[in-house]
Amino acid sequence: MAEVLRVGVAGVGTVGAAVVRLLKRQEQALTARSGRRIDVTAVSARDPDKPRDADLSGVAFYADPVALAASPDIDLFVELIGGAEGAALTAVETALAHGKSVVTANKALLAAHGMALAALAEEKRVALAFEASVAGGIPIVKTLREGLAGNSIERVYGILNGTCNYILSRMEREEMSFADCLKAAQELGYAEADPTFDIGGFDTAHKLAILASLAFGVRVDAAAIDIEGIERISLDDIQAAAELGFRIKLLGVAERGENGIEQRVHPTMVRKSAAIAEVMGVTNAVTIDADAVHQLTLVGPGAGGDATASAVVADIADIAKGVRSAPFGLPVSALEELRRSPLRRHEGGYYIRLAVPDVVGAFAQIAKRMAEAGISLQSIMQHGERRAESSADAQVSVILITHATSENLLRDALDQITRDGVIVQPPQVIRIERE
Ligand SMILES: NC(=O)c1ccc[n+]([C@@H]2O[C@H](COP(=O)([O-])OP(=O)(O)OC[C@H]3O[C@@H](n4cnc5c(N)ncnc54)[C@H](OP(=O)(O)O)[C@@H]3O)[C@@H](O)[C@H]2O)c1
Repeated sequence: MAEVLRVGVAGVGTVGAAVVRLLKRQEQALTARSGRRIDVTAVSARDPDKPRDADLSGVAFYADPVALAASPDIDLFVELIGGAEGAALTAVETALAHGKSVVTANKALLAAHGMALAALAEEKRVALAFEASVAGGIPIVKTLREGLAGNSIERVYGILNGTCNYILSRMEREEMSFADCLKAAQELGYAEADPTFDIGGFDTAHKLAILASLAFGVRVDAAAIDIEGIERISLDDIQAAAELGFRIKLLGVAERGENGIEQRVHPTMVRKSAAIAEVMGVTNAVTIDADAVHQLTLVGPGAGGDATASAVVADIADIAKGVRSAPFGLPVSALEELRRSPLRRHEGGYYIRLAVPDVVGAFAQIAKRMAEAGISLQSIMQHGERRAESSADAQVSVILITHATSENLLRDALDQITRDGVIVQPPQVIRIERE
């Protein structure tokens, strides 16, 4: 191995600049730990004149990241541009094709092309490392791939999107509406101008697809994820959850069961006693259920330049040491096709909020339909004030908590209740995650 590892960094934005700074700040320690010096010798970005939050004196600038990826002057290509297609994809493919190892923080790229890129890396006998792509600074990829190698993993789930967790936390703490919290998140720079990707659950889904592959030895299959965002969560739900001993979190859950693997992203009721319920604000957390270790929860910063750079630099240090693991834990040919367990076959408890105009008659009818479907209710309560006592449009929320049941039975029973005309809005259904 050469004495110096020459690194090219494509993308010098929030994460890229933080990586350049961190490599400089930890230069001595990293040289000692890796046994060789790590030098950023070139970078790429769109605008050559933009001031950068890192010292780039003596570092070559490439306007084209693909040219940087192909350059004989670098040994390792670090992709911090973002996006599943375009420059990021072409540059990563080019670097691998030229026999260079790649480090990336790009979950969208891996969710869409992870298998093809891992196969190319294997063929070229180089590393493809992506610790920073899931849960920012939390070393979850290494934990699943190496740290838990002696375990059979049953379930992995987590809070993987800081924006959603910030909004849900603030709704609860300050009794604010979803719309007001989203606006605050945008003002603070936690949410994008177009927040769909975060609040719709799609960002969480990309990360979950990567986690499921690592946990279960299956091919990344982001198309097999059932996704619901947090847009329909009301303050009424947050408050009812709190009264019942729950907190609502947007979780990504991957679980192995008899019917295959469930991959689902949705607002979830977690018991306040669960470690993950304590995680508030932009912080991320991942919980793993495994046979030997039982339950393990990792909590930490899921985004931000420095925290994400911490994960990128750990990957760079591994590559400097000559570590080359199979990107998804197994050779691509040994990863199984993911057998999708349909959401309709999900089994668990449910929170259901129904808007009913006539509470006396409705209670009896709802309870009857649930009993007919064989669904056992743990509790049934009225929540919220009557908005117009004894007038024709008066309505209250009826909150049901079910014991474990199947999604199929529940959906059929709710369809029946809707047909009965006892509710005036589509039911709000939130799955309860077991501890
Ligand atoms: N930010 C986080 O907290 C975080 C956390 C985890 C993972 N990530 C991932 O890290 C990656 C980078 O995110 P970021 O927040 O650092 O993004 P960012 O601040 O927007 O930076 C993107 C960088 O890429 C450069 N770039 C964009 N298109 C380019 C092109 N066609 N050719 C060359 N350079 C190009 C930009 O150049 P200019 O500066 O000249 O415009 C900029 O320097 C993404 O995949 C993201 O998902 C980010």
